[in-house]
Amino acid sequence: MATEPSPTTSAPSPPFDSTELAEIESEAASRIDAAADIEALEEAERLAVGKRSRFALLYQQLRSFDPAVRKGGGQQLQELRRRLDEALERRRAALSAEERASRLLEDRLDLTEVMSSPLQGHLHVVTQVREELEDVFVGMGYEVAEGPEIESDWYNFEALNIPPDHPARSSVDTFFVDSGQAETLLLRTHTSPVQIHLLERGRLPIYAVVPGRVYRRDTPDATHLPVFHQLEGLVVDRGVSFGDLAGTIETFVPAIFGASVRSRLRPGYFPFTEPSAEFEISCAICDGSGCRTCSGTGWIELGGCGMVHPAVFEQTGVDPEEWSGFAFGFGIDRLAIMRHGIADLRLLVENDVRFLEQF
Ligand code: PHE
Repeated sequence: MATEPSPTTSAPSPPFDSTELAEIESEAASRIDAAADIEALEEAERLAVGKRSRFALLYQQLRSFDPAVRKGGGQQLQELRRRLDEALERRRAALSAEERASRLLEDRLDLTEVMSSPLQGHLHVVTQVREELEDVFVGMGYEVAEGPEIESDWYNFEALNIPPDHPARSSVDTFFVDSGQAETLLLRTHTSPVQIHLLERGRLPIYAVVPGRVYRRDTPDATHLPVFHQLEGLVVDRGVSFGDLAGTIETFVPAIFGASVRSRLRPGYFPFTEPSAEFEISCAICDGSGCRTCSGTGWIELGGCGMVHPAVFEQTGVDPEEWSGFAFGFGIDRLAIMRHGIADLRLLVENDVRFLEQF
């Protein structure tokens, strides 16, 4: 049995019970570690080493000790105090790092956030197709010309060999302008009057395309609009033949629709061309096998064309013995909806952004 060392021996053993010290330490340490913020940590510090703490009580006891053991006790308490201070400091550092991190997190700008950007528009699908058509013809050496949308009866009809009682007039219902003038004014029903303006200009030869808005008193439906767009073509030169017309159509159709779309001419009638033809393209929807869009025929009519009628040349002072030419005209809107497989012309003018932004 070991003899307990007597307090009076020359090497006095430390006066404080090491289990109690360990208990004080572990109790304080767990409070310190559990402190969730600086205030809680200050509270833990107060409880661990403050005036009313068990630690402070031990310190007071120290004074009553015999000087011989007081030194050992002082060392014990200093050692404990050092470890508690260390634990407090560690926790303080951890808490302030945490606090800093969470402040940074709060202040952080989320640069990945999706901001609504200003809406950006683009050209209307009809304008896009019109510009593409212009590019194709400019590439073939044509100029792009324009004419007025309000025309006289003479330009829109008479000069084009459509006299007042001609049945061709009744095929287009017309918007007349009440001008109060003797001359009858109207919204042009086609771009063909620009043929007359170009011929009157007197500069030959002519290779021109004329895009523009035209007006007819039609009730809107899937294939008609009262305001739509045409592209007119006029070529006048020496020795121009019907073969040149056919070749021109065969060149521009695949340039617009792609190589798989074919074109054909069928006999037609227009007062200002002779002979006249209607030109058709193979249906892009069914590739010519027949479907609803092409009414089962495999072909879709695109426009009219023909050789410039001698009467038109005579109206404008061009000698038909010296010059010959061809003209064609078709609806840009119809061409645009065929190009894009759009079912209804009216969609083009409803201004629904969800529709327009697709093209
Ligand atoms: N202007 C005719 C129409 O609107 C089309 C056409 C133009 C026909 C040129 C022949 C020559 O239907």
